[in-house]
Amino acid sequence: MLNKQENKGELFVEWKTRVTELLEIDYPIIQGGLAYLAYSELAAAVSEAGGLGQITAMSLESPEALRSEIRKVRELTKKPFGVNFAIGQHGRRYDQLLDVALEENVPVLSVTGGNPAPFFEYIKGAQVKKLVLVAAKRQAIKAESLGADAVMVVGHEGGGHLGRDDIGTMVLVPQVVDAVNIPVIASGGIGDGRGWMAAHALGAEGIEMGTRFIATKECVHASKEYKQALLETDETGTVVIKRSLGAPARALSGSWTEKILRMETENADYDKLKDYISGVANRRFIHDGNEQSGFGWAGQVAGMIEDIPTVEELIGRMVKQAEEIRKKWS
Ligand SMILES: Cc1cc2nc3c(=O)[nH]c(=O)nc-3n(C[C@H](O)[C@H](O)[C@H](O)COP(=O)(O)O)c2cc1C
Repeated sequence: MLNKQENKGELFVEWKTRVTELLEIDYPIIQGGLAYLAYSELAAAVSEAGGLGQITAMSLESPEALRSEIRKVRELTKKPFGVNFAIGQHGRRYDQLLDVALEENVPVLSVTGGNPAPFFEYIKGAQVKKLVLVAAKRQAIKAESLGADAVMVVGHEGGGHLGRDDIGTMVLVPQVVDAVNIPVIASGGIGDGRGWMAAHALGAEGIEMGTRFIATKECVHASKEYKQALLETDETGTVVIKRSLGAPARALSGSWTEKILRMETENADYDKLKDYISGVANRRFIHDGNEQSGFGWAGQVAGMIEDIPTVEELIGRMVKQAEEIRKKWS
């Protein structure tokens, strides 16, 4: 996992795993897709700091908007980055967005949220690294059989959409590590160097973070109210909504999510719920800061967030912390 180099008596440690080699990055830290939040500024900042930043394709209103975001990332960094596709959102088409990502020769694609087989079929033969975000062992095995280069595994602690089986990251990651040969990237509940090293102890070769990256300076589209809520929330401050629709997802708890949960308890169907759980309601809080009429996705790791650093500060701090742990262990 680590490559030690003696240099003038000082010990320099270079992170090296199959994930850093595959993605050609310095640290195996991946910024997860973040609907309506992960545009060029955040993606470029994460990549420039040595991780892998990603643009979230499905939040963009048109294929040309994606092309423009990809080009902006390339103006901001020469380092590799990814484009994320959360497919299966009420049958929304993604082929034109995918065409743009392929035309622009993006180095990495990630996919989640639906059956990835047609996605893999569509990109067959393209020179691109393929990551699949899964929430269950059987999905990881399927991703490997389809030709994924690595699999990201998100546990129940995570923010946004989750698996239906409520398996925590600590339990899911080692089982996936044992079940596949491709590198495993742990996700869900990771927010600092301790979580990173714990993931490595479980056999993961990298981490993905979502919630932690929202609380950074470069996540410029997140409202100050959303960031403030992430600072104030403790470990109990998130809830899982949409379970009754078979699509559980973790959000910050508030009056809007309480309303949704009440409606779900009263067996409201999709038609009744759709305006409450829509992207529009999501943006009313995450972009406009209106907690009374919207909501924001977040993972339990929100309880650990205590500041809004730059991405570079965050990643630098995590590397230092991971280093200190490694030294303690040895
Ligand atoms: C606000 C928010 C939006 C998300 N949107 C997406 C998305 O569009 N595509 C995706 O693959 N994952 C999405 N996710 C999941 C994250 O990429 C990541 O897997 C998850 O946040 C990891 O858990 P953590 O929040 O504990 O770090 C989202 C998560 C959050 C918090």
